[in-house]
Amino acid sequence: MALQNVVWKALELFSHPPEQQDIRNNRAFSAELSHLIHLLSGLQLTDLRLTPEKMEWLKSAGHAPVWYMSIVDAQDDQMLDSEDEDQEDEKDANNDESSLEKAPASVMTVAAFAVKPGARLPIHDHPKMYGLLKVVHGEATVQSYSSVRCLAGTPPEGHSMPQLMAEKHEVTVVTARSDPLLLHKNHQDIHEIVNNSETTVCLFIDILSPPYHFRLPDSSDTRHGHRYITYYRELGPASPAVCPTGADKVYVILEGIKCPKEYKTQHIAYTGPSLIKEQATHQRERNAVAMMNEGGMNEEALEK
Ligand SMILES: [Fe+2]
Repeated sequence: MALQNVVWKALELFSHPPEQQDIRNNRAFSAELSHLIHLLSGLQLTDLRLTPEKMEWLKSAGHAPVWYMSIVDAQDDQMLDSEDEDQEDEKDANNDESSLEKAPASVMTVAAFAVKPGARLPIHDHPKMYGLLKVVHGEATVQSYSSVRCLAGTPPEGHSMPQLMAEKHEVTVVTARSDPLLLHKNHQDIHEIVNNSETTVCLFIDILSPPYHFRLPDSSDTRHGHRYITYYRELGPASPAVCPTGADKVYVILEGIKCPKEYKTQHIAYTGPSLIKEQATHQRERNAVAMMNEGGMNEEALEK
């Protein structure tokens, strides 16, 4: 049940209205988030029905440097454009069962990545999202950045992509014994994840909310009219002239790039229990019990 508990808790937490999802000012939200982090801390390889033997197999099988396991993923069933999203909201409002089964994928993405020895997820961003990353096997070396601001104006000569100033953090090495990493708006919202091991696959679980490809709440941010992923390369230290003053921090310039050719993922099926269906069943049972308590149903009805 450990993975189910994590998914249900994440769904409950990230279903709150966006204005309540404020880690800095909403103590109730922060407390719930801490509970989710606690649940996530306990996850193990077996919760994904994986074994060390299977991890050995993943190391040499396949053609891509990274395996991707979709657990709850919007891209599987509802890659929505803005019009479709409105229609989907309407449909869900009129159909409780449908909304139970579809809501998780519109609220969050839950996935596992198995990174082969020496492979990496290139520098990429998580615009205006919450993210939790828990290593359950092997070791990940994470270089995080916190976005500060886009650099206005035309890119310098020889550069065609937008540039961003970001605070560069210390490199963090995380293992199965480490607490989950947390990212949120402008806090370590850009990162590179590297498996520096020569022998062991690194497997981590990733929870992201809201998912990529859904509309941002504030559509005035034209750069990210939709929440697309952007890949970056680090150009070097930012000029002191553009850095915030009085802070003992390292600022660098990141430049947007196309997805690096060497970064390829290969899908691996999640073979654990159907989390969404079980969540729906769980909710139906709770509704039935509530109705029974109101005297509207008998036990026979609950069994149907
Ligand atoms: Fe990421």
